[in-house]
Amino acid sequence: MSSPIFEVDNLRAHYLTRFGQKIQAVDGVSFSLKAGEILGIAGESGCGKTTLVSACMGLYIPPLHLSSGDVRIEGKSIIGMNVEQNRRDILGRKISMIPQGALNSLNPTRKVKDLATDMILSHDETADKRQVHARLRERFRKLGMPADDVLNSYPVQLPAGMKQRVVIGISTLLDPRVVIADEPTSALDVSTQKAVIRLLFELMDQGIIGSMLFITHELPLLRHVSNNIAVMYAGEIVEMGTIEQVIFDPRMPYTQALMGSMLSADSGHRDQKPVSIEGAPPNLAHPIQGCRFAERCPVARPDCKENQQVIRIVKDRQVRCQYAE
Ligand SMILES: Nc1ncnc2c1ncn2[C@@H]1O[C@H](COP(=O)(O)OP(=O)(O)O)[C@@H](O)[C@H]1O
Ligand SMILES: [Mg+2]
Repeated sequence: MSSPIFEVDNLRAHYLTRFGQKIQAVDGVSFSLKAGEILGIAGESGCGKTTLVSACMGLYIPPLHLSSGDVRIEGKSIIGMNVEQNRRDILGRKISMIPQGALNSLNPTRKVKDLATDMILSHDETADKRQVHARLRERFRKLGMPADDVLNSYPVQLPAGMKQRVVIGISTLLDPRVVIADEPTSALDVSTQKAVIRLLFELMDQGIIGSMLFITHELPLLRHVSNNIAVMYAGEIVEMGTIEQVIFDPRMPYTQALMGSMLSADSGHRDQKPVSIEGAPPNLAHPIQGCRFAERCPVARPDCKENQQVIRIVKDRQVRCQYAE
């Protein structure tokens, strides 16, 4: 059996606010990925997905701090480096993030090729501009984009889907072993979403990237993306297993509620109405006793609010619920 490319080991990360408040946004997350594997991560807004991305990339820029745990790529820890060293040796090469709509936030008066070159140079000051252009052209072509047209366009001239393809092309130019896509399809229509997902698969098939974390707030979307799925709630993974387990037979009441809140014709539930989850996730600035979902859980029992929940194996998947069966 091949060894994992990416290992996240009991990772905990917190924000320290100006007012001295500590927000434990990632609290004991563990998983690993082998070559060719994709893990989908889903959870409501505010549950710690984007913080997990920074924490996994070793990007601890205040107010974010590592509390404890480890992240290893190809067996080597990337924790404990300073940010400059991380940018030089790790980001883009070993691990890369595909941000949501990055080209929208960049200087609209510069062409794609210049924006892309800037991004590459920010990781590698010694890179030669002309070589970078040539590499971009070759890579864009390989990924089925009209390379010369796209590189000579301004971002505003490109449709949303093409912009996102460009961002993906640039983020993966240095063949990173691990790619983290944080809500890469959120602002896109369904057919463009599918095209973006196909492109990510292609990168994987061609061996350009080694493994991938695909993050979304839409759990059902992960059916089209990954075989393995982790559901996050209040900084923790609360259920982890295959599509069949997590989407079609969830055992954690939170996953069940999340699926129920997103029923749609597309997921084969034409006749049922979505039911939103009452209440809001707990405030991570205070220590939480007991199950973090207990306040909102429709099947909570009195002791759920008292007992800290640990991962259990239920029907072959991981579940953080003492009563799941
Ligand atoms: N810069 C920050 N300073 C303090 N708290 C933050 C900061 N960024 C995010 N948070 C808090 O961390 C928690 C997780 O946020 P985030 O990782 O963005 O969640 P998600 O990506 O799942 O929406 C939230 O409670 C959020 O308010
Ligand atoms: Mg986020």
